[in-house]
Amino acid sequence: MAKSWLLTDPRGLTCQIIHGNSLEALHAFNNQFDLIMTSPPYADARKKHYDSIKPNDYAEWFCRFHEAFWTALKFNGSLAINIKDKVIQGVRHRYVWQTIESLSTLGWCCIDDYIWHKKTSMPGYWPTRLRDSWEYIFHLAKNTKPFMDQNAVKIPISPITQRRVKNIKDGSNSHAASTTGSGFSRNLSAWKNKTSVLPTNVLYLSTESHNRNHPAVYPVSLPTFFIKLLSNPGDKILDPFGGSGSTAIAAIQLGRHCVLIDNQYEYCLVAKGRLIKECGMKETRKSKVIIANNFAVNGITI
Ligand SMILES: C[S@@+](CC[C@H](N)C(=O)[O-])C[C@H]1O[C@@H](n2cnc3c(N)ncnc32)[C@H](O)[C@@H]1O
Repeated sequence: MAKSWLLTDPRGLTCQIIHGNSLEALHAFNNQFDLIMTSPPYADARKKHYDSIKPNDYAEWFCRFHEAFWTALKFNGSLAINIKDKVIQGVRHRYVWQTIESLSTLGWCCIDDYIWHKKTSMPGYWPTRLRDSWEYIFHLAKNTKPFMDQNAVKIPISPITQRRVKNIKDGSNSHAASTTGSGFSRNLSAWKNKTSVLPTNVLYLSTESHNRNHPAVYPVSLPTFFIKLLSNPGDKILDPFGGSGSTAIAAIQLGRHCVLIDNQYEYCLVAKGRLIKECGMKETRKSKVIIANNFAVNGITI
């Protein structure tokens, strides 16, 4: 038996939290989501908190969700996966690469790889490596042209660059030498009369500093970036490994609807508490008991 909660905010946005295995719960959601934004359990992690998957089994484990994710996602939608590999007996295990390779064999298009550079990474000493300060976000889609709103994430051109491009004459092909001394140069004339540019695919974000009653919280700024880039206001976002609800917080703050699924009851409660406290949401109907595979969607039990 599992439960679901429906929360709404004054703008009419909804967040449904489902306690259950997303493999089963997603049967109720066909072609509904514009974006699946998630951070699945990492291999061999958090044994005390939730089921741990062995690195060698990870690709096979993750691909069990392929059909459920594919069916739940709209044609132009995206799947963004935040994940990190790990070192085993002194060697980096490649379960993350294996997983992405397997997903591409199953039909997912690997649109791009993003790096989340953690501005505040853990201190420490390792004899054969340095402090690890980044994680992956893989952007996958059902075809090669998923929806993307680049304007939503553009950043202002720095004042230094603005001063440099101001002096470029029209039609000139002015190049600036790379500051790395590599010999490559950038054509700055492309930036003339522009006030903003695309960000790079390296995201510089701090890790979340306060305890969220969950051991693997990502900062709200991470899903915020991808929700802005890969969906429109009013769209519907899914986090099938919802945890403490960071994806939902970002989605509601950005005017999107959200569905969160987590198979740990206490994390569903943490997420619900955060959505009420941080987004001013209200529970609209009493917790609903769901039996086996009969999941309720928007009040209709199917
Ligand atoms: C890495 S954590 C997600 C953390 C989340 N991004 C946050 O910021 O709080 C992964 C979550 O997936 C949940 N989980 C693991 N297997 C699941 C499954 N089959 N269905 C639903 N949730 C699952 C775990 O309980 C855990 O909360």
